[in-house]
Amino acid sequence: MFEEAQYFAPVAKREDGSVTVELASSHPGFADAVYRERRNAIAALALNYQPGDPVPHAEYTEEEHQVWALVSRELAAKHQRYAIREFLDATERLGLPKDHIPQLQEVSDRLYPLTGFRYIPAAGLVPLREFYGVLADGYFHSTQYIRHHSVPFYTPEPDIIHEVIGHANTLASDRFAELYRVAGGAARRVESEDALQFVSKVFWFTLEFGVMREASELKAYGAGILSSYGEIEEFRGMDIRPLDLKAMGTTEYDITKYQDVLFEAMSFDQLEDVVGSFWATCDDDSIARLLADG
Ligand code: TRP
Ligand code: FE
Repeated sequence: MFEEAQYFAPVAKREDGSVTVELASSHPGFADAVYRERRNAIAALALNYQPGDPVPHAEYTEEEHQVWALVSRELAAKHQRYAIREFLDATERLGLPKDHIPQLQEVSDRLYPLTGFRYIPAAGLVPLREFYGVLADGYFHSTQYIRHHSVPFYTPEPDIIHEVIGHANTLASDRFAELYRVAGGAARRVESEDALQFVSKVFWFTLEFGVMREASELKAYGAGILSSYGEIEEFRGMDIRPLDLKAMGTTEYDITKYQDVLFEAMSFDQLEDVVGSFWATCDDDSIARLLADG
């Protein structure tokens, strides 16, 4: 799940308790009545969720399970080629099912003993500060619906494939889990909206779309690249820039397309030294200083 309002279809709850997800006319599922019904039912689960409850069980159709199976198969092969070692090892450790969509509660039950992270359902947009802030406590807000079967290789709208195959596998690594936690701490610590935006953009260009040099090859570790078998084939041809906090915190991006500007860490150590240390210590003043000097 991510912050930009335009990705998330608005969710309306009526007085009679019914829930409607308002898909844009450009959404691939717009004219698919069965899909829309599914989206409404799944959004209703999250809206009725109370913190501390187990994650509600979502019934998925056979077609939805098949989307998961297809994407899992495509991604597993591409991850071998394009994902960093830390991600491959963490994926193995988590051991998610490949032939059917796991319940978020199951994801949580597998992840929690490994790194202390738990999944909680979100109907749609979660405010930035809340979304990131609870990472500090080991909570990850996740959508529960799946992308439309007509466009399995990429979606501009975060779905359970992105949240789980991209993020949960990553969160099964101790080193990544720590980075997510300190990002959450940073989002809580900063006060101004500008500083929060900066923290969020650094998250975007690292944990969502980061790439890393590994034994002279360029690999991906960002969850947004790792969940799209369309985008993962393209990242090596993008404009690859050196890891730099100010650049990441200020570069604009378009959420609806493959990311064409990416930042490369030379190693996991560098990612932790530069980005991990930044999140662990930043405040409004230090961010203002970063923005001020050339
Ligand atoms: N494009 C990603 C995919 O197809 C999902 C996604 C949508 C996403 N919006 C995002 C990923 C924002 C990272 C950030 O799997
Ligand atoms: Fe994400």
